Amino acid sequence: MSSPFWILLLGFLFMASGTLATPPRRPIAVPFGRNYVPTWAFDHIKYYNGGSEIELYLDKYTGTGFQSKGSYLFGHFNMQIKLVPGDSAGTVTAFYLSSQNSEHDEIDFEFLGNRTGQPYILQTNVFTGGKGDREQRIYLWFDPATAYRSYSVLWNSYQIVFFVDDVPIRVFKNCKDLGVRFPFNQPMKIYSSLWNADDWATRGGLEKTNWSKAPFIASYKGFHIDGCESSVEAKFCATQGKRWWDQKEFQDLDSYQWRRLAWVRNKFTIYNYCSDRVRFPTIHPECKRDRDI
Ligand SMILES: *[C@@H]1O[C@H](CO)[C@@H](O)[C@H](O)[C@H]1NC(C)=O
Ligand SMILES: *[C@@H]1O[C@H](CO)[C@@H](O)[C@H](O)[C@H]1NC(C)=O
Repeated sequence: MSSPFWILLLGFLFMASGTLATPPRRPIAVPFGRNYVPTWAFDHIKYYNGGSEIELYLDKYTGTGFQSKGSYLFGHFNMQIKLVPGDSAGTVTAFYLSSQNSEHDEIDFEFLGNRTGQPYILQTNVFTGGKGDREQRIYLWFDPATAYRSYSVLWNSYQIVFFVDDVPIRVFKNCKDLGVRFPFNQPMKIYSSLWNADDWATRGGLEKTNWSKAPFIASYKGFHIDGCESSVEAKFCATQGKRWWDQKEFQDLDSYQWRRLAWVRNKFTIYNYCSDRVRFPTIHPECKRDRDI
């Protein structure tokens, strides 16, 4: 191969990665056991292809879940999930980050199942210093049970962004200046679980889990973690400010991402705590920074 070809190819690859405006979205496949351990009901997790793919089982006896071995302060946390297909009413599949103390921080994805053919709801929430009450709910623009999709959280000291594939569906800006606590010094672990929540999950608890359809199965792959690992006692990340997610292009959404977020808000939002004046007569301060409201 002549050298101009290689120079051209390298130049192209460099451009392609150098102009990346969204977090690297191609998930890196590593075995489950490298970064995660089961949390409970170990016999309800099944492993395939040397642990590169797993299934969580929910039956009438128990659900199950897993958690990261390490704790992290900032990073990009991705999971590929294929949700419970068919009649998933009453089931909840969660993917979240949480610190392990009383005034805890938490960043949540919760997928609320439904009857066959009825849409899942994706509920997100952010807890800071033990306080949540920041629910948002959307429908997805695809069926999350037919194929793997990627769900991720970008967390740096400027913002927390929830992504579905590469579409931002929610942003929580650091509003420290407005007196809102922002997660910055409590390392979080990554968790996922599948359980029964038919007292509230589907149509507010009206639709019960049909146990004759059990077991309910959610599938996972891509167990890579891109975060700054730190001990639970640590209050800072050793490489703070130096990782890719700290750089300028990840400190705010770009205009294309803001437009895509607006598209999600306009077309798919069911509930947003920022516009619930009955529950919150006084608007949460961070909502004032929310561009589209
Ligand atoms: C389930 O389907 C019903 C009817 O389409 C819908 O109102 C509801 O939002 C859907 N999702 C959940 C989780 O209840
Ligand atoms: C539960 O599933 C069984 C078996 O598929 C079906 O016959 C029954 O009608 C279902 N019940 C409800 C409430 O959907």
